[in-house]
Amino acid sequence: MIIAIDGPAAAGKGTLARRLADHFGFAYLDTGSLYRAVGLAVLRAGKKPDDPNAAQYASLNLDRGLLRDPDLREERTGIAASKVAAMPEVRANLLEFQRNFASQPPGGKPGAVLDGRDVGTVVCPQANLKLFITASPEVRAKRRCLEIQARGHTAEFEEILADVRARDDRDMNRADAPMKPAEDALLLDTSELDIDAVFLRAAALVTERLKPQ
Ligand code: CDP
Repeated sequence: MIIAIDGPAAAGKGTLARRLADHFGFAYLDTGSLYRAVGLAVLRAGKKPDDPNAAQYASLNLDRGLLRDPDLREERTGIAASKVAAMPEVRANLLEFQRNFASQPPGGKPGAVLDGRDVGTVVCPQANLKLFITASPEVRAKRRCLEIQARGHTAEFEEILADVRARDDRDMNRADAPMKPAEDALLLDTSELDIDAVFLRAAALVTERLKPQ
């Protein structure tokens, strides 16, 4: 069973994906963390995230240690991630890892939940269930601010809203694997739904797909 959860920044994909994976005993992969690790490696090397050579090198030599680095969740890492993610070579270098994870979930688990931007369209077009989670830019910026404050940092709403919009724009308008719902994805707008409500809807859909036809 492969569940693909796509959508823009701070729409609530990660929380939903993690809860579904826990609930059904599936493996979970945050595909964005791979792009973040590449973005962070480039920043740490003192290069610009739109430097194709630096990004390609970092994606070919993915430093798994960075996946647990506290700076991975920083806003500047997310911005760098969306710049490296626009490069087709970087995307190609990260594809095999994601596909292997989905087809052979670690720990022999019976399923995998992957969240990102192109899981339903490119990484796992054969997924059993595809969800596209959205929310208005304002709601997402507010959630991101709360997340940043919970980590003990300060966050300026207008600045975060501008980042969210710039990232949406880059993710939707890139030529390679742009963020968009797969044709067979179910759309879920979480602007007015809390995480419990979203989880209950999604869990019901998974349970339906698990029933023998
Ligand atoms: O956590 P948040 O939603 O802010 O972002 P993320 O999921 O960690 O992804 C960071 C960036 O990586 C995104 O803005 C995308 O540009 C890129 N990404 C992608 O291109 N394809 C994916 N499957 C996942 C992330």
